Amino acid sequence: MSFDVRTVKDLDEFSRAVFAIGQYFGMTPTEERMQRFLDQITAERMHAAWSDGAIVGGAGAFAFNLTVPGGDLATAGVTVVGVYPTHRRRGVLRSLMRAQLEDAHERGEPLAALWASEETIYGRFGYGQAAWCGEISLAHEYARFLQPHEPEGSLRFLEPDEALEAIPPVFERIRLQWPGMFSRSKLWWEQREIKDPEERRDGAGPKRWIAYERDGAIEGYAVYRHKPGWDEGSTIAELRVVEALGATPIADRDIWGYLLAIDWKATVKTFLIPPDHPLFLLLATPRRLRYRMGDGLWVRLVDVGDALSGRRYSADGSIVFDVRDDFCEWNTGRWKLADGAAARTDEDADIALSAASLGSAYLGGISFSELARAGRAEELQDGALSRADGLFRWNRHPWCPEIF
Ligand SMILES: CC(C)(COP(=O)(O)OP(=O)(O)OC[C@H]1O[C@@H](n2cnc3c(N)ncnc32)[C@H](O)[C@@H]1OP(=O)(O)O)[C@@H](O)C(=O)NCCC(=O)NCCS
Repeated sequence: MSFDVRTVKDLDEFSRAVFAIGQYFGMTPTEERMQRFLDQITAERMHAAWSDGAIVGGAGAFAFNLTVPGGDLATAGVTVVGVYPTHRRRGVLRSLMRAQLEDAHERGEPLAALWASEETIYGRFGYGQAAWCGEISLAHEYARFLQPHEPEGSLRFLEPDEALEAIPPVFERIRLQWPGMFSRSKLWWEQREIKDPEERRDGAGPKRWIAYERDGAIEGYAVYRHKPGWDEGSTIAELRVVEALGATPIADRDIWGYLLAIDWKATVKTFLIPPDHPLFLLLATPRRLRYRMGDGLWVRLVDVGDALSGRRYSADGSIVFDVRDDFCEWNTGRWKLADGAAARTDEDADIALSAASLGSAYLGGISFSELARAGRAEELQDGALSRADGLFRWNRHPWCPEIF
């Protein structure tokens, strides 16, 4: 069966392309919801696959900037990828991925990033797991910190329209320190963060916005929901933390101190916590977090040279990679990274690896030594792995706090 891939031209095509994934979520593709998506993704970033005149698959990309170590790069934020079950395993996804990555390349976006529904899908297209994250479920009685403290700042509730004004600047400040976080446009804030329709609440109450202030400035915030419940008269309520970010260690401590102390709940739950989150060392009994870790953000170097030159490094020195990129051939070959810039080279390679493995290492969350131990990178010169690890490591694990 043959199919064409091109970008959609109107709301109707867009809706049918998004429904390729929407159906798996049980989504009702209302016009209002589709228009909201279209406004964010835009028609020119939504590819659809056609077969015999019908749309059978879709793949979209948000245009945002991803924080990388010491920088911030234009990125295709891949989203709403799906193929109608009537046309699965005939190469529809492959054609969509090809069109999308070629488009990102032509636009000059050095990176693409995504959240994977299954770990088995995207490696073949050059994406690598670049960050770990996980969910926690902490029983109220184990919420004690190791070191008791008095909060140094104050907290106050914000109405959603106040949050829309007050929170984006502090988010921007925080996300620029954190590889793996991405920029949010005003529309993103309005539609995805502030707007809080019933269907996104999963049985819990509305979002509560809290600003944390110290010395007259907002230094962090939290968004959470109450999910009430009772069992034989006692609470089994959950406090679901949607996002909690502090710009300083004290802000993080005080915000989490507040969240964990909230009365009349049995459990605090949140998802997407990175493995180096301060909570692990703040709590007296971190085992009680019942942390379940999995893959977070996946990263693909659309343009190896621009991507490697676009981040900072933790050490001086140089390294030569022999990159194998079967899906985006323009990246294949030897690349020398020296003085923070990458260029093609004829020099002997230090490390051989696939584009997906380089994507895994790129944000500093997964080391070359780890990749080599799993057979995903090969050391060609003695000491090359630790040299590369020294260059790429960063002061924190990459963290993407939101699935897009
Ligand atoms: C996952 C999905 C997009 C795959 O689409 P598809 O058109 O069937 O994929 P293709 O036929 O282009 O397959 C390309 C390759 O990926 C493999 N593949 C596709 N889906 C896979 C999966 N879920 N697990 C493992 N491998 C998969 C195919 O076997 C094929 O392998 P090959 O390179 O060795 O030939 C489709 O099954 C789907 O829509 N699933 C439900 C929604 C979803 O998970 N979307 C992804 C959101 S992140």
